[in-house]
Amino acid sequence: MSRIAYVNGQYVRHAQAAVHVEDRGYQFADAVYEVWGVIDGELTDFEGHLKRLARSLKELQIRKPLSDAALTAILQRIVAVNRIRYGLIYLQISRGVARRDHVFPPDSVPPSIVITARSANANAAESRAQRGIAVITRPDQRWARRDIKTVSLLPNALAKQAARAEGAAECWMIDRDGMITEGAAANAWIITADGVLVTRAADHDILNGITRRIIFELAEKQGLATEERPFSRDEALRAREAFITSATSFLTPVVRIDSQPVGNGHPGSFSLMLRERYVATAKDRSKAPAMRQPVWLVARRSKHLQN
Ligand code: PDD
Repeated sequence: MSRIAYVNGQYVRHAQAAVHVEDRGYQFADAVYEVWGVIDGELTDFEGHLKRLARSLKELQIRKPLSDAALTAILQRIVAVNRIRYGLIYLQISRGVARRDHVFPPDSVPPSIVITARSANANAAESRAQRGIAVITRPDQRWARRDIKTVSLLPNALAKQAARAEGAAECWMIDRDGMITEGAAANAWIITADGVLVTRAADHDILNGITRRIIFELAEKQGLATEERPFSRDEALRAREAFITSATSFLTPVVRIDSQPVGNGHPGSFSLMLRERYVATAKDRSKAPAMRQPVWLVARRSKHLQN
């Protein structure tokens, strides 16, 4: 079965999916994106990602090209036609195609929208989580608005590549005060020796992860003490447990930082318990109001895709 992508109103074969060479996403990284995890054929934390997408667009003054109902229908259809049971959905919206000029094009230029789907191996992800991963640390070289989910990911790609080169799976980035901001593609967490769950506050320095917010709620429900504050590499090395969170990895324990063990060098029990709770409750969290309706009903209501 060939993969299907959605490009500007059309469902096309993934191999043929393309945007124009003067798309501003391509030339200026003038675009935002979202990534949904898919568990048992359902987009996880659906509304949270949709809301963050709206916020990213607003912050960059990019017009929202579709209503939420239309977008919901398309996302569901992409999951269905690609028969994704477990994997991810990628969505990107750029400011559109225009003659190269740093200044924004006129409002008449429509934003470009691309959606792709990819299956992943659930068993491989689970065993990776049970083994835990290694991370390295590097200076954070990104811009000052990391809360906006833009496709301007070169520093993140360089950081992730540095991790790969050292046999690690993630790179935790360090700000000028020596504090960890987050991973190249995931939020960073520790559980201190006193049992307090710590992650950096969601200001402009990090992406406010949707998974991050859910894990926070689940941890509080489990009675864990929580704190939103920066932590250093040294504090992380003294921590009992550490982990990362993202829509694609859910929660994955970190067992080594710059080749030194975290805790006893094995995934921590709280981390694994939170991961299990996250996956176990994913189905319930997927049931956004629009998604409880059959696909055909949502699709019929959203015949006119443009707002
Ligand atoms: N990355 N921080 C960064 C820099 C990220 O790129 C991501 C997600 C996160 C976690 O956010 P969320 O829980 O909403 O996925 C934090 C996605 C998965 C990616 O770029 O592929």
